[in-house]
Amino acid sequence: MTIPEYTPDQLRARGGLKWTAIPETLGAFIAEADFGTAPAVHSALAELTEKELFTYTPPAMLRDLREATAEHCARSFGWDIAPAQVAAVPDVITAYRAMIDLFTAPGTPVVLMTPAYMPFFKVPPLCGREIREVPMIRTADGWDVDGPALESALAGGGLLVLCNPHNPIGKVYERTELEAISRIVEATGSRVFADEIHAPLVFPGARHIPYATVSEAAAEHSITALSASKAFNIPGLKCAQMVFTNRVDAARFAELGEFVAHSTASPGIVATTAAYREGGDWLAELLAYLDDNRAALAALLAERLPEAGHLPSAGSYIAWVDLRAYDLGEDPARFLRESAGIALTNGRECGEAGAGHVRINTATPRAVLTEIVERMAEAIDGRQEAPADPTR
Ligand SMILES: Cc1ncc(COP(=O)(O)O)c(C=O)c1O
Repeated sequence: MTIPEYTPDQLRARGGLKWTAIPETLGAFIAEADFGTAPAVHSALAELTEKELFTYTPPAMLRDLREATAEHCARSFGWDIAPAQVAAVPDVITAYRAMIDLFTAPGTPVVLMTPAYMPFFKVPPLCGREIREVPMIRTADGWDVDGPALESALAGGGLLVLCNPHNPIGKVYERTELEAISRIVEATGSRVFADEIHAPLVFPGARHIPYATVSEAAAEHSITALSASKAFNIPGLKCAQMVFTNRVDAARFAELGEFVAHSTASPGIVATTAAYREGGDWLAELLAYLDDNRAALAALLAERLPEAGHLPSAGSYIAWVDLRAYDLGEDPARFLRESAGIALTNGRECGEAGAGHVRINTATPRAVLTEIVERMAEAIDGRQEAPADPTR
């Protein structure tokens, strides 16, 4: 298998939200990848179609998913869980909402380490919850958690959203960092929603450590969300997994989560089972391509936009770029959409700490990634060289 390198026209014709939502742009915002999915996923879906098995989810299908998830966790992360600890849910944002609604008391604030994934900001207000932002600290070569600020945001008990790998900054947390977080969470009587959706997309040099494995306390106070949807590019199939590492939570979800679980789509369950069991070779090839892309992006930015701040992501295909030096105003993504025809995410949607930044999806053919940076640089250079307005 080789990674297909479609042109922008081909990608638009194939469809997908990223390439069709904002016509005539190069799509690099929402986390869809441009490379299709694994052959194992195709075969599983073809078999399902052949059997016309579009019924409600039969128990055997769900059992296979739970077993495949446990096998995947053991093989990929050395994390031993029992299939019974796994619940199917339609997607990670539904799991997030379920965590707030079912596992935290009314009024519990939601704490986000920012910049954070945009929908993390949208759900708490729908549940009547306050959001507290704790900005990450940018060091010379990485990002640190602001421990004291986290402790004060969680004081009295809160729900911490721990996204690892951390979208949008691409940070993969080290064991000591996870342990330090778990001590703060425990000391404040808080809980953790561990969003590990990007865990299969960690590059050489880093390793994904599931939060629930760092201490008994972490296992007790967290619920983990996993999904094959990013790594295997199947978000439309609607299947994610919640992993319960605390018996009380598992029992509560069994009692109250029936209709959350019921919304999971059976094609997604079948596709995820196949991806976890048979998608390893395809994923390894994808990861190698994405690894080269992250190096290419860093090199392109250094050459064409040398004032941009950027650290290559250790995990996920999301890249975070600081454009504050170019002074592009409130919404650099809008400037780049209008003047360069590229669709990126405005960093401000990732919290106050994201002002002046953009988020770029690098899961795209290298030629497209190159064109994105070229267009960014041309638009920014053109703007800086624009003659003064004679009417002023
Ligand atoms: C960190 C993170 N969490 C959750 C999601 C959403 O996942 P889902 O489609 O399963 O709700 C995404 C999608 O890009 C993501 O990057």
